[in-house]
Amino acid sequence: MNQELSPSDLPPMQPSRLTRAAFLHRAAVLLLSAGGLLSGLSFLRLQRLEVPAWPQTLQLLGAPEQYGLGSVTWFAPLQLYLIRERAGFYALSAVCTHQGCPPQWQESPGIFHCPCHGSRFDRTGTPMTGPALRPLERIKLVLQANQLWADVSVRFRFEKGEWSLPGAYLAYPFERQKAT
Ligand code: FES
Repeated sequence: MNQELSPSDLPPMQPSRLTRAAFLHRAAVLLLSAGGLLSGLSFLRLQRLEVPAWPQTLQLLGAPEQYGLGSVTWFAPLQLYLIRERAGFYALSAVCTHQGCPPQWQESPGIFHCPCHGSRFDRTGTPMTGPALRPLERIKLVLQANQLWADVSVRFRFEKGEWSLPGAYLAYPFERQKAT
């Protein structure tokens, strides 16, 4: 019963169809892998962009030790005054609450005077004479790596009770400054 098969008895091979199918399968796998890799990279990139290492609005004011007790320091680019008290620091926005002119610090008698309509503010930014009625706004202060920073995007208004919020006043006793 053993009958020898000749090559003509074998079913015809279809090399071209098999090769095409294999090729299409591999191409699909490659495309899917590349797509997955690209979306993975995009996801990682987005993740990196969404977690900034440092707020862009923080501006360096310098080491606390360089500010003498009672000093009022003007930062023209930031339009703010940094005030050093025995208990710590606060920063005042140099924008008059009447119509926005820049109040100027006068060492004697120790007030901020607005050149436009004459409002006067004491060293805490509280109005002494009008027409301004609201105190000057405070700007958030941060202490990082023993350096003072101003976050110019955060303002505190006295009339809203915001001067008691963190950053409106940066506790940094002068004694601590002398000890370091
Ligand atoms: S803008 Fe300052 S008093 Fe008018």
